[in-house]
Formats: sequence, structure tokens, C-alpha cells
Amino acid sequence: MPSIERADPVILGHILAEHRAFHEELSAARAAFTSADRSEASGVRAAHACLATLREHLARHFAQEEQGGYLEESLNRVPRLSPAVKAVLADHPALLAELDGLIERLSRPDIPQSSWEQAHRDFDAFAQHLVAHERNENAVVQEGYNEDLGLTE
Ligand SMILES: [Fe+2]
Ligand SMILES: [Fe+2]
Repeated sequence: MPSIERADPVILGHILAEHRAFHEELSAARAAFTSADRSEASGVRAAHACLATLREHLARHFAQEEQGGYLEESLNRVPRLSPAVKAVLADHPALLAELDGLIERLSRPDIPQSSWEQAHRDFDAFAQHLVAHERNENAVVQEGYNEDLGLTE
């Protein structure tokens, strides 16, 4: 069985730091939505830019998680985590698709007010999904490694 001490700590630390960084990126995107009280082109552009940056970082993050082995290692250590690991991994394409839909709808700056408000609501829903995903993932790793990593509130 591969050892976490040998293979994983750098990747794991990196991934956990990224979870924290996503909270900041979500805050930046949220600020873009709330600072424009109507669908001004600059507001749409700002929101679009924040979401595009987040999309790039998330895609890279998910790929690293899928290759990094710490979810698999959690499973090796605690086989009953199998459904939780599967659910966490299944979230990745769904989250990217949700974000892609949002980015697509903000790709033109001259959208109507109603579309802007809908995009804001959809962003809030996406942010909740992403935060829930990372929380579930942290819980799996914490349980898999049987350590209090200080990841859950
Ligand atoms: Fe993930
Ligand atoms: Fe993650």
C-alpha cells in the first residue's frame, strides 16, 4: 500500500490550500455581482472574468485531486468510504458544467437585467454547491486518514 508520508503530503497540502483559496475567489465573484446593482456592461465583464479565472483554477484542482491519490488512499485505508469517494468525484464534472453554463450566459456584456439577476442567483447556488463539495471532500480525507486535520467546523 502506498504511504501517505512518501507520496501525498505535498499534494494534500497544496489541495487544502486551494480549498481556502477558492473561498476568496468566490468572494471576488460575489463582490462583482453585488457591486453592480444593474446589468452594466462593466459589471457583467467583471463577473465573467472572475468566473473564468475560477473555472481555470477549478479544472486544474479537480484534475490534481483525481490524479493525486489521496482520495484513493482514503479508500484503501477505510473501504466503507467508497460511496462518499464516488459521490465526491462525481461532483467534479457537474460543478464544471454548472460553472460553464453560467460563464456562457455572461459572455455578452449587454444582457438584460432579468438575465443578470438570474445569473446572480445561479452563482449563489453554484457557490453553495462548491463549498458543500469541498466540505464533503475534506470530511472524506479526514476520516480516511483518521486524523483531525482541523478541516471541519
Ligand atoms: Fe474535489
Ligand atoms: Fe477539492
